Amino acid sequence: MKVVSMGTGYVGLTTGVAFAYLGHQVVCFDVDRAKIDSLNHGKLPIYEPHLDELFNLATSNLKFTDKEEDIGLDFADVIFISVGTPSMPDGRADMQYVQMAAEMIGRNLGDHFTVVVNKSTVPIGSGNWVSSLIRDAYLKQHGQKPDGRFAMASNPEFLRQGSALFDTLYPDRVVIGGEDTNALDMMTNLYRPILNQEFAAPDFLQRPEHLGGVPLLTCDLASAELIKYAANAFLALKISYINEIGMLATKVGADITQVARGIGLDSRIGPRFLQAGIGWGGSCFGKDTAALVATASEYGLKMPIVESAREVNYQMRIWVVDQLLNELKILKGRKVALFGVAFKPNTDDLRDAPSIDIARNLIQRGAKVSAHDPVALENARRLYSGLGIIFTDDPYQAVADADAAILVTEWPDYRKISWSQIKSLMKGRLVLDGRNFLSRPEMEALGFAILNVGK
Ligand code: UGA
Repeated sequence: MKVVSMGTGYVGLTTGVAFAYLGHQVVCFDVDRAKIDSLNHGKLPIYEPHLDELFNLATSNLKFTDKEEDIGLDFADVIFISVGTPSMPDGRADMQYVQMAAEMIGRNLGDHFTVVVNKSTVPIGSGNWVSSLIRDAYLKQHGQKPDGRFAMASNPEFLRQGSALFDTLYPDRVVIGGEDTNALDMMTNLYRPILNQEFAAPDFLQRPEHLGGVPLLTCDLASAELIKYAANAFLALKISYINEIGMLATKVGADITQVARGIGLDSRIGPRFLQAGIGWGGSCFGKDTAALVATASEYGLKMPIVESAREVNYQMRIWVVDQLLNELKILKGRKVALFGVAFKPNTDDLRDAPSIDIARNLIQRGAKVSAHDPVALENARRLYSGLGIIFTDDPYQAVADADAAILVTEWPDYRKISWSQIKSLMKGRLVLDGRNFLSRPEMEALGFAILNVGK
């Protein structure tokens, strides 16, 4: 099939590369010329494990352009709208890029049938809205209605940054929303290799042994749109819940890791996303929970559970600084080293990263903050050079003379560095393990004083 991905962020690029690998002809479009130039030179604009390898395998089926006339929208069978939908100050999603994409599609629709797919996380009702934008743009361009030329579908993505390709090729489910049976059939055909797991797994991303087929859920547009928000909000509140229980665990002398294991073994609850720590960040949970609350309020509804999950989450970032204040008594003039700047391991993404809020808070209280990250420093320097954080490529330099260190992101590298060397370089001995990631007995044997979340 001829597939177009409008937008080359995490979702658009991963989707485009994956469908190209599965044998489709894929054109990726982005308004950002620098990104397109770099992709045309074989350089990926994001850090995502294995994406470069799959990209190299699929390159003969991939084309990148920033020019409307070169996309070939008139020949496309399936067009994914995968542009950004950042949060506006009131929590609603900013839809200007979706609108631009929809109008471009409308201007360029060809004579054959095309499925236009909302892949970006868009507010409920966006399927209808995008459809009307496409119709209006077509009418304006051609002086007639585009009847029968296109139909809308919603195909929310559930990929996690850092495991984006695994989640795309081996998903728990595929959700396709839409009212047009022809569009649903085409989408099912597009996904068939994934649904039936009938493609050759790349060497570097083996198929999980237990995976037979992937469930497909087809439903109406609004349900597909709500599934996306409801799933992300549920995962976000699962994490906030374990963190809230973690706060109580500390008070009563319990260990949150044991508690999480004990409740996660109940198959109705499940063990995943019960890792206590300094909470979630990233481009999705914060944005999507805010958008869900904003959508509900448009209908006069409150979402106290989702709102509380947000409150608990952002409180964790303040809790970290309060812990340091409790232990060090004075923060002014202290040096605190942060291990990890990215919002999670295996990504260089800093959107809504807890590290930045924690650093900002410490600096406001008069502390000096140094920070290390294995891959996100380039982005950190570009985006946050004004904050006063000392970014360093050397983890040992980051802790030189530090009064305390905080493990913010559980990069595997931080299990491999020499903590005994770190101990000798630090002035103090306090380490706040914000992800319960390091071995407490081993760290204590080296002379560190360890603070955990929920222990
Ligand atoms: C999340 C969802 O997991 C994906 O299914 C969804 O497609 C994606 O949002 C999206 O909407 O695009 P992502 O934000 O990339 O994916 O990463 P996650 O692995 O979900 O982690 C999010 C945050 O939760 C991270 O900061 C992570 O450190 C934190 N987390 C995760 C915890 O604190 N505890 C856990 O047990 C799990």
